[in-house]
Amino acid sequence: MKALILSGGKGTRLRPLTYTGAKQLVPVANKPILWYCIESIVAAGITDIGIVISPETGEEVKSKTGNGDRFGANITYILQDTPSGLAHAVKISQLFLGDDSFIMFLGDNLIESELNKFLANFQQKRLDALILLSQVADPTAFGVATIDLEGRVIRLIEKPKQPESNLALVGVYFFKNTIHSAIANIAPSARGELEITDAIQQLIDTNQKVEADELEGWWLDTGKKDDILAANQIVLDARLKSQNLGDIDSDSNISGRVEVGLSSKVISCKIRGPVIIGENCHLEHAYIGPYTSISDRVTIIDTDIEHSVILCDTKITGIHQRIVDSVIGQRVSMKVSPKRPQALRFLVGDDSQLEIM
Ligand code: DAU
Repeated sequence: MKALILSGGKGTRLRPLTYTGAKQLVPVANKPILWYCIESIVAAGITDIGIVISPETGEEVKSKTGNGDRFGANITYILQDTPSGLAHAVKISQLFLGDDSFIMFLGDNLIESELNKFLANFQQKRLDALILLSQVADPTAFGVATIDLEGRVIRLIEKPKQPESNLALVGVYFFKNTIHSAIANIAPSARGELEITDAIQQLIDTNQKVEADELEGWWLDTGKKDDILAANQIVLDARLKSQNLGDIDSDSNISGRVEVGLSSKVISCKIRGPVIIGENCHLEHAYIGPYTSISDRVTIIDTDIEHSVILCDTKITGIHQRIVDSVIGQRVSMKVSPKRPQALRFLVGDDSQLEIM
């Protein structure tokens, strides 16, 4: 059994953040989304992992993630020249996959459940494909499954305008090697991509064994700003532990679960957890409210912020109107004067400069 993580694609929905970086590396609770995928695959006992990367962001994914040692895995990187679809990503990975069965994990998906139970179901029933489904409010943004009365999958449609059900395809799939001939038999869709939903439909239409399990627990497709904030909130809630490896002065007031990274300084701040602060940060006269993640080397002075994600090397000064529900990129500089008593909402890309006067 192998695993294939898809970490290529264009990431258009998270622009401007993803003009300069891979969307799978956007941090949730200060850890790249992609790394959660790797960890859950390794936790299911699979260590032979291929990661599909794009020419634009592949080097960054490779250099941050490495050869797999840190996860106890062996990672092979597979370059996909163009983002021609999820099934295309499998097609170009055939040399790596060989005849093995594999888990395909979309590198921008986060799920609460462990994979073991689904893996056991897939293996015991010797299925050709096992898909995971989750009920969603707006199925038009996903692949959508129609299930018959016995729970068999009868139809899959990618992002339908008029969905037949509210069962969305989660970005975690289990495949036997029969998926390769199914992919060889499909043509690009109207949007020009080789769709994995079409390949699975091909398996269904040729009477191969395709089943679906409904996912329990949360699932997040981190395609948009609000998804990142929701993922950040859920992960901080579920997994954060208090820890102080930095330097918090006696004028600061800390409550709830707060993690402060190595060599970070917290001076005269009020922090209400859950909050995670990375390494080498400088926080002074700031209020940091619940569900905030602050990456490495961030400076926050004289500023109020909550329910937000701040990427590394960013500097924010003098914003007393509380910053809420914001995702702020790397190396951003934000400076405000004078005070204005209003809330501010931001989605700010890497290298931006903001001065609100
Ligand atoms: O998140 C679940 C949904 O993921 C499913 O419900 C859909 O059926 C499935 O098509 C997919 O839809 P998305 O529109 O969210 O796919 P996206 O283009 O965001 O790509 C998902 C991941 O795969 C992302 O990490 C980028 C990567 N990718 C994508 C394409 C198109 C590749 O590595 N290569 C590609 O060619």
